[in-house]
Amino acid sequence: MIPITRTPNRQYLFSQILPQVKEILAGSDTTEEKLLALCQVLHSGVNWFDWVGFYLVDPETPRTLVLGPYVGAPTDHVRIPFGQGICGQAAERQETFMVDDVSEEPNYLACSLHVKSEIVVPIFKDGEFVGELDIDSHTVEAFNKKDQAFLETICELISAIL
Ligand code: SME
Repeated sequence: MIPITRTPNRQYLFSQILPQVKEILAGSDTTEEKLLALCQVLHSGVNWFDWVGFYLVDPETPRTLVLGPYVGAPTDHVRIPFGQGICGQAAERQETFMVDDVSEEPNYLACSLHVKSEIVVPIFKDGEFVGELDIDSHTVEAFNKKDQAFLETICELISAIL
């Protein structure tokens, strides 16, 4: 079996999905509907993206993330303080946080026992951290630099609708 990380057409797959992302963002739906549609496109289009969702900074509570639209198994982690788990650490660092094997990450909030790796990409609006895109995979080392670049591009585009 070829490991997912060596799948040769990853770049091609992402180049097919990006126009769909742009179409969703340019549509007339509400922001919440667009974020959900983005989750659906990413979840259905990339077979190693097993949970795709957004955490947004709570405007009412300082340094707290609130679960936004997502596709995948329901999670108990509806509110996450900055610094807690992979999501909270990404919020603290304000940079992409990629974990190859969640069992080796001591500061981790388990969503499901199936999850083996995770990537969290920050979203900025006018230079301010406003939320993040969180993706879990049931495969160890599912994500690489190409995933990171693709998801960072998407998060830059999302900034325009927030
Ligand atoms: N695993 C995350 C929590 C969110 S769930 O994956 C949906 C974390 O450690 O922050």
